[in-house]
Amino acid sequence: MDIRLLHPSDIPHVQHANITNLPEKQVLPMPQNQECYFMKYYLYHALSWPQLSYVAVDVSRPKKTPYDYPRIVGYVLAKMEEDPPDGVQHGHITSLSVMRTHRRLGIAEKLMKQSQRAMVETYGAQYVSLHVRVSNNAALRLYRDTLGFKNENVEAKYYADGEDAYSMKLELGFIR
Ligand code: ACO
Repeated sequence: MDIRLLHPSDIPHVQHANITNLPEKQVLPMPQNQECYFMKYYLYHALSWPQLSYVAVDVSRPKKTPYDYPRIVGYVLAKMEEDPPDGVQHGHITSLSVMRTHRRLGIAEKLMKQSQRAMVETYGAQYVSLHVRVSNNAALRLYRDTLGFKNENVEAKYYADGEDAYSMKLELGFIR
């Protein structure tokens, strides 16, 4: 497994991974079925904060031709908060996903840690924030137990289908 920075040319494959991977529709923080919007949103991240988003590529699958696409099995899309309300420089995890076939191998943990480190080293981030569905037990275990995020508060009806989100935060001082 190769963890590397996300390139703009990966975005269609990331989109493919997202669509095929997520019947639960819990990652996209934007209106569903708006592929053009999705592409622009992801491209905006990749171009604005190119150090913060990563993909996991399954390198065990040989390329059939030089033009064969990379097999992206996971990604983290992250940004810096542009106008932080608290005035504190911090990062934000916009989206994280790992293909069902490749879960429980530590890929999400590695993607998150790479992004967190880059937030600190490149932008001097003090902490990282994210939102997650209150019902998303797998992600909550990852964030709370493995990575050490704390619940900040519950944001009622954060998602389009009416589900609440936990707003979570991890102080990044331990990386310096
Ligand atoms: N049940 C319980 N604990 C879990 C689970 C699970 N299904 N998945 C991960 N964990 C916890 C465990 O403690 C695990 O360590 P262990 O395997 O040694 O017990 C630890 O997290 C690390 O797990 P990883 O292998 O790194 O996680 P994985 O690569 O499987 O990806 C993820 C986890 C991203 C939540 C995956 O299940 C997924 O893609 N789910 C669908 C998309 C999603 O929910 N994304 C997060 C939305 S929130 C956001 O994007 C900001």
